[in-house]
Amino acid sequence: MKTLGEFIVEKQHDFSQATGELTALLASVKLAAKIVHRDINKAGLVDILGGNGVHNVQCEAQTKLDAFANETFKAALEARGEVAGIASEEEEHLIAFNSERARAAKYVVLLDPLDGSSNCDVNVSVGTIFSIYRRVSPLGTAVTLADFLQPGQQQIAAGYVIYGSSTMLVYTTGHGTHGFTYDPTLGVFCLSHENIRAPTQGTLYSINEGNQHYFPLGVKRYLQYCQTPDPATSRPYSARYIGSLVADFHRNLLKGGIYLYPRTPPYPQGKLRLLYECNPIAFLAEQAGGRASNGGQRILDIQPTTLHQRSPLFVGSITMMDQLESFLKE
Ligand code: AHG
Ligand code: MN
Ligand code: MN
Repeated sequence: MKTLGEFIVEKQHDFSQATGELTALLASVKLAAKIVHRDINKAGLVDILGGNGVHNVQCEAQTKLDAFANETFKAALEARGEVAGIASEEEEHLIAFNSERARAAKYVVLLDPLDGSSNCDVNVSVGTIFSIYRRVSPLGTAVTLADFLQPGQQQIAAGYVIYGSSTMLVYTTGHGTHGFTYDPTLGVFCLSHENIRAPTQGTLYSINEGNQHYFPLGVKRYLQYCQTPDPATSRPYSARYIGSLVADFHRNLLKGGIYLYPRTPPYPQGKLRLLYECNPIAFLAEQAGGRASNGGQRILDIQPTTLHQRSPLFVGSITMMDQLESFLKE
């Protein structure tokens, strides 16, 4: 059995100018993931469920676990000095790490520390999403906003941790999407899903159908298509929606399916965050042979303008994405 640490070192030659810095950075992500795994697993036993009375910059109620996961990842990424700065869904502004070593580091990390956090209280899968870029500001200085506002195609690596019936870490560095299952008795992530290939066609669709009334016409028509019986194309498809992007995406990635979060009047730009959710998920999807768009443009081509920018997200199996887009264009 190969561990995540061994796999990363083995693949280190995939990076030009490999210096071990990215390897060390991923080790920090791994450590924070283990800590969050541990605390989520005993969440019902300690006073860490529910809200903490704080609202984040996006006016969303923060849970205690949102804050805990944020602090854990922040501390782990700062500790070894191989990250120049971070931006997080739970932080209003970017954070420039100030040690001399951090200022000399070449990477920045963007985080959704806890995705689907409202599901924690009811013991349903949640996740952490991360995205890594090479900074564009000069080494040796403090990071700037421009380091974080890069289109998704510039990502050096991206991944997520899913705290589910087992905990898994799935990541890409642009050379395939690979999955590792955590063995809590050994304290290691073991390679369990090497080079994941998303089925080109699936039979699952994932959307918050309670918002049906709000959906653009093209999305409504596509949903009708998904629900219309046609044995030749295995329709009707099955609806599956957890409400944790990581968990919904992970299932569709392995089984074949499509995830949709269109614009709605409460979220006119879409609900999901381009930098912390859409970009890393799009990178992972493409590296597994899938596709991601905002309905008109490839997610990874979008030039971000603000840190907490939102976007519609459609992601999944390529033939399902083609079909959806034919309805959106009508
Ligand atoms: P977060 O917990 O990080 O704020 O993310 C919640 C997101 C995403 O995980 C999920 O897919 C979506 O919100 C669910 O939204 P609805 O409740 O509107 O369906
Ligand atoms: Mn999220
Ligand atoms: Mn979150």
